[in-house]
Amino acid sequence: MRFVVAITGASGAIYAVRLLKACLDLGHHVDLIVSDYGKRLLIEECEFNLKTETVEQFLDRRYGAAERAGTLTHHRDSDMGACIASGSQRWDGMVVIPCSMKTLSGIAHGTASNLVERTADVTLKERRPLVIVPRETPMNMIHLENLQKAARAGAAILPAMPAFYQKPRTFEDLADFIAGRALSLLGSEHGLFEPWKG
Ligand SMILES: Cc1cc2nc3c(=O)[nH]c(=O)nc-3n(C[C@H](O)[C@H](O)[C@H](O)COP(=O)(O)O)c2cc1C
Repeated sequence: MRFVVAITGASGAIYAVRLLKACLDLGHHVDLIVSDYGKRLLIEECEFNLKTETVEQFLDRRYGAAERAGTLTHHRDSDMGACIASGSQRWDGMVVIPCSMKTLSGIAHGTASNLVERTADVTLKERRPLVIVPRETPMNMIHLENLQKAARAGAAILPAMPAFYQKPRTFEDLADFIAGRALSLLGSEHGLFEPWKG
């Protein structure tokens, strides 16, 4: 499958890291967009500098070298001429993880002022799955209204709120719960956590 993964400047970069690892392990193609503040949060929270390392190199360093069946294309957030700016390209869904309140606002209002917002706009107009993983707390009325607007336009809202019934031991376990939920909403199988058996 082919997914667009957008990383923006909200806390929780590890959610994106675990989603990228899962996509590549599962053999998906990822079209990656990282906003400027997304890059900063990757450095601050995960010690991953996109200027000096590729995603594959970072994953090998952090989790051990592995053959990964998936592939990745990195697009610049400022490149409105990237192939994924057009609905004529086919992709199976998009996830914004984590999604800042600023990018949420841009998506909810259809401003399409950078590649993240434009591709989310295209994903919605083409009636493809769009998963938004907002990260802010507490939320004001503007945030709540923007979430409602995005949901009404067709986005699935998946708050960065991991569950604890899986008995997570590590930050990776917590992040895998959200990454797995995102993959399920995008229609991809995964083995990131055991489904609740009752
Ligand atoms: C260390 C750091 C943490 C931040 N955490 C959040 C956050 O959790 N949620 C949020 O909405 N904005 C957060 N921000 C603010 C956004 O990064 C800022 O609004 C930025 O303009 C978002 O731009 P982007 O959506 O294009 O990445 C944070 C900023 C910094 C520097």
